[in-house]
Amino acid sequence: MSISKQDILKALETITVSGEGKNMVESGAVQNVVTFADEIIVDLKLSTPALHIKKRAEADIIKTIHEKVDANAKVQVNIKVKAPAKPQNPNLIKGKPIPGIQNIIAVASGKGGVGKSTVAANLAVTLSKMGFKVGILDADIYGPSIPIMFDVAMEKPLSVNVGGKSKMKPVENYGIKILSIGFFTQPDQAVIWRGPMAAKALNQLIFDAAWGELDFMLIDLPPGTGDIHLSIMQSLPITGAVVVSTPQNVALADARKGVAMFRQENIDVPVLGIIENMSYFTPAVPIAIGIPENKYYIFGKEGAKHLAEDLEVPFLGEVPLVQSIREAGDAGRPAALQTATPIEEAFEEITRNVVEETVRRNENLPPTEAIKITTMAGCSAVKK
Ligand SMILES: Nc1ncnc2c1ncn2[C@@H]1O[C@H](COP(=O)(O)OP(=O)(O)OP(=O)(O)O)[C@@H](O)[C@H]1O
Ligand SMILES: [Mg+2]
Repeated sequence: MSISKQDILKALETITVSGEGKNMVESGAVQNVVTFADEIIVDLKLSTPALHIKKRAEADIIKTIHEKVDANAKVQVNIKVKAPAKPQNPNLIKGKPIPGIQNIIAVASGKGGVGKSTVAANLAVTLSKMGFKVGILDADIYGPSIPIMFDVAMEKPLSVNVGGKSKMKPVENYGIKILSIGFFTQPDQAVIWRGPMAAKALNQLIFDAAWGELDFMLIDLPPGTGDIHLSIMQSLPITGAVVVSTPQNVALADARKGVAMFRQENIDVPVLGIIENMSYFTPAVPIAIGIPENKYYIFGKEGAKHLAEDLEVPFLGEVPLVQSIREAGDAGRPAALQTATPIEEAFEEITRNVVEETVRRNENLPPTEAIKITTMAGCSAVKK
């Protein structure tokens, strides 16, 4: 017996996905239904990356088709996640719009060396694996490390002609578009930048570059909470910031300052959450070297989680301290690219949380306006 597409759609009309209001056919979540002999393929596009909702939708589809259409049909459900679109109210967009770029996420920390760049690189490749179009902008004027982490340190962006204008073409690897301040500075040159200089250079890297369409642009910020950061926020409409910290007290104190900087009344960049890096040490081959317990909390336990609770910002997840993450960074191939590993799993969870928080942020808040700094010394800033 051949299965009719109409019958399947009718059956799917009885399913509602949590948070999407209408049934999955009416809401447009069902993108395509293909039948082939006794096999049914349903393509679904959801606006949430939450794993439990995706699993629930898949289970509901299979169950409903078996109950209402054909008890023996083989059902395959392919689920894609819609990129969170930026809010479209033009009256609210005051910052210089960046055509084609939907969400700009700043990756920050207070303290240096806690793993911002490592986390940014792995977030980028995980977002890309989830099907998003991703760019990464290395804004670390003190020590740009993204080119090394993506194995493009020897490359230089080419120039392309876009609508009669010459634009920089981001370098690309692993499907990620990359620009770094490091492409334009000598590695051994001590770069002494002031905020406005850095902001000007970053503006060029953003507005004079041919980024094309991006769902996410990640900005790897330099460590600290100084005038460079204010200058960056002056020039860019940042959707939200994620703050990276280790569980150690000195890092947490700086992370607190980082969150406070974004929350400053006249800056007001939403903090999407805190990521804890180096949460615990896991030896590569614990049994072979005779170590019974697999987790060593060398920087303390759950410090960033508690900080997130204290500051009432989402806790986005933890990344263990493992040798292969460092090795992968040095080798220019972010660790999360390797499939079926605990590292991939950890970054998938964190990335899902980041996307979810971005969706929530875009539903609830207007686009962040670019910030105009009036006085640098007192770090005081006003919105345009
Ligand atoms: N989870 C981890 N496991 C093992 N090594 C890690 C981990 N996270 C970061 N590292 C290593 O720690 C070092 C510092 O990380 P990274 O450069 O990402 O920090 P950062 O916060 O960007 O530093 P900076 O403030 O200088 O920009 C690097 O050698 C990196 O490979
Ligand atoms: Mg860094």
